[in-house]
Amino acid sequence: MKTPIRILGIAGSLRRLSYNRAALRAATQLAPKSATVETFELDGIPAFSQDQEQNPPAKVTELKRRIREANAILFVTPEYNWSVSGVLKNAIDWASRPHGDSAWNGKAAAIMGASTGAIGTARAQNHLRQILVYLNMFPINQPEVLISHAIDRFDQEGNLTDALTRERIIGLLQNLVDWAQRIGPK
Ligand SMILES: Cc1cc2nc3c(=O)[nH]c(=O)nc-3n(C[C@H](O)[C@H](O)[C@H](O)COP(=O)(O)O)c2cc1C
Repeated sequence: MKTPIRILGIAGSLRRLSYNRAALRAATQLAPKSATVETFELDGIPAFSQDQEQNPPAKVTELKRRIREANAILFVTPEYNWSVSGVLKNAIDWASRPHGDSAWNGKAAAIMGASTGAIGTARAQNHLRQILVYLNMFPINQPEVLISHAIDRFDQEGNLTDALTRERIIGLLQNLVDWAQRIGPK
């Protein structure tokens, strides 16, 4: 039996009742048998300063270790003013430094996101894809998981109740696993 593909899921919201954190929780339950989805919470990471990049906070060191241990990354991004949240960008920046020691380099990735708006983080996801180019990451393209009108897709406890969204997340994770196996370990 093959070793399961390890996916690290990172949601770009600190909000207690965050739809994106809820979507990531759903992904941990919808992973194919050949994979695990673990999560990393971004709370407690200070604002990036290049003065500290040679001696980063412990939480950043932990983030970089968890990224390196994973075969693939699942980004679950909110949309803030047509882009990714500052919290997510801040974590991305920390883990990309110092120069030559980026934890992201060469990783397979998938992107999904939830917003209360009508196009479900499409603009944020597009921005994130641009960022991943510089990070030398390899995101899969499909299926698109754009969770629009999030209030209608989750119940009061934050369970993802929308059947089509659940199916899409299953498809995304399966494609990510296949892709991570194809591009090999990193
Ligand atoms: C600063 C800020 C900017 C936002 N900008 C957008 C936006 O550009 N597009 C959008 O669809 N929703 C936008 N929203 C609404 C978010 O989609 C909504 O707050 C969502 O619940 C955030 O994700 P979370 O539930 O995971 O925290 C914005 C919210 C905040 C707080």
